[in-house]
Amino acid sequence: MKKLVVVLGSPREGSVSTMLADEAIRGAKEAGYEVVTYDAWEMNIKGCKGCGCCRAGGIDCVIQDDMQAYWKDLHTCDALLVTAPNYYATVAGHVITFMNRHYCLTNADRTERLKPGIKFGAIFTQGAPEGFDSKYKENYDWFVGTFTSKGMELAGEIIAGGGSDLEAKKKEAYSMFSES
Ligand SMILES: Cc1cc2nc3c(=O)[nH]c(=O)nc-3n(C[C@H](O)[C@H](O)[C@H](O)COP(=O)(O)O)c2cc1C
Repeated sequence: MKKLVVVLGSPREGSVSTMLADEAIRGAKEAGYEVVTYDAWEMNIKGCKGCGCCRAGGIDCVIQDDMQAYWKDLHTCDALLVTAPNYYATVAGHVITFMNRHYCLTNADRTERLKPGIKFGAIFTQGAPEGFDSKYKENYDWFVGTFTSKGMELAGEIIAGGGSDLEAKKKEAYSMFSES
């Protein structure tokens, strides 16, 4: 069975990004995925300490926190979905902390440790309308680039802002993994 790992970035009751993630999950399940969900806010995730153990040894990050379970799922999954609210013009801090820990997935010789072809989807939500500030999109693309630079294939990047057509966004989210 194919596996989708979902990392939810919003701790907020009534979160728009989580609502869209639910649609992506629904589509994925109907396409035959089993789904494993992580809540980035609830997880104990330390920041990368730059020790370099990972790249020296070609291993996953050595910090013993909730990322250890995630690594196991990541290495065995077929798709990854990460969601994040926009806080102060960029991806929320705790989700960036999560993203920083992916440093260990590139070896010292720049080869990737992850099996190639894992599909990657991202959902970003903001209060301002879509296209409000080009800096927002640049920041989202930078975040996505960390994952695609590890050999993941972009399945979709959804941005929902104030005034967005959420029914259309839900359809987009539903089909993110349903056609693969
Ligand atoms: C601390 C904080 C900072 C925020 N900064 C921005 C911002 O700079 N630009 C923006 O468009 N929305 C900003 N927002 C609004 C959120 O991005 C918006 O409410 C979004 O829907 C949150 O995602 P969620 O619904 O999945 O929780 C901010 C919200 C909070 C709590």
